Amino acid sequence: MRFAFGRWVVAVAVGAVLAGLCPPVGRADSQLAFRAPQVQAGGGAAQAEPPNYVPGKVQLFEAHWQGLDGRLMTEELRRKLQFPQGVQGILVGEVTLNAAAAGILAGDIIIKVDEGTVATIEDFQRQTRLVKDRQQARLTFLRKGKQAEAGGGVTLSQLTVVLRGSPDLGFAQVEGAPMIVPGAERPHPYRGPCTNCHPVGRGFELTPDPDLITLPPPPITAEKASGGMRPHEDKGPCEACHVIVNPTPGRPPY
Ligand code: HEC
Ligand code: HEC
Repeated sequence: MRFAFGRWVVAVAVGAVLAGLCPPVGRADSQLAFRAPQVQAGGGAAQAEPPNYVPGKVQLFEAHWQGLDGRLMTEELRRKLQFPQGVQGILVGEVTLNAAAAGILAGDIIIKVDEGTVATIEDFQRQTRLVKDRQQARLTFLRKGKQAEAGGGVTLSQLTVVLRGSPDLGFAQVEGAPMIVPGAERPHPYRGPCTNCHPVGRGFELTPDPDLITLPPPPITAEKASGGMRPHEDKGPCEACHVIVNPTPGRPPY
């Protein structure tokens, strides 16, 4: 009960912040009005808070190995960072430790671990497993050259360095996209249904986080969910974000 009470207080605080920020608060108010009985019901199984939604399979997008943090070079990133067409590999986002000592820089695109070509995070993890017990391995990568003065063409050079482990190299650990709250707006362009990449739920980071004030989406009826009637783009299975309610005959569901 104390937990339920705490959450209600948090919900009110969020409403108050939004009311201060954006004048039309009708939507926020009605959503909060609905949430109150749901939270206070406590024991009622039908009204319990849904658990985190963790898709069975999510796309991998990040790997960590020997101090480097690499992510999949998608077409979206390639365009944004102005790499030439057709470039594939693991884009280095950050370096420390042995990767930095080897001479890898953020912005490099790893294309080989020893002789093994890497185009995806899955490839990268597989290839690093092959060298995990060794003390060193070669890394081949593409590095952007200086932009030509006038034409602005991009040149890429291919370089190879030796990465040394201490004592051994171990293998890459991989990650998916972070868990997002059910009402989250996407900060990036449309990439497909949210649940292809994100678990949806709460508990993904310490709260409260003043940067991520989002309202949960409203509950929808089982009828709407099964009919797939949605006003928005395809975000994934409805139950990942919406509480599904069964309408009682003669009464609006919420
Ligand atoms: C193809 C994979 C993919 C899909 C589909 C996708 N996302 Fe993302 N999303 C990511 C990745 C990767 C990140 C990490 C930062 C980045 O790349 O922009 C991210 C970041 C986010 C963040 C910031 C999270 C944080 O803690 O920093 C939010 C919020 C988010 N996405 C919401 C959504 C929503 C809502 C949808 C569905 C409409 C969606 N995403 C669909 C891959 C995806
Ligand atoms: C990743 C989260 C997410 C998923 C998955 C999702 N929705 Fe939504 N839905 C939202 C959010 C956020 C809103 C409110 C803002 C908006 O319209 O984008 C919303 C709004 C709605 C609304 C409007 C409700 C109202 O009363 O205003 C309906 C109906 C709806 N969704 C149906 C669906 C259906 C049907 C599915 C499954 C096929 C689905 N949604 C999947 C996040 C999601």
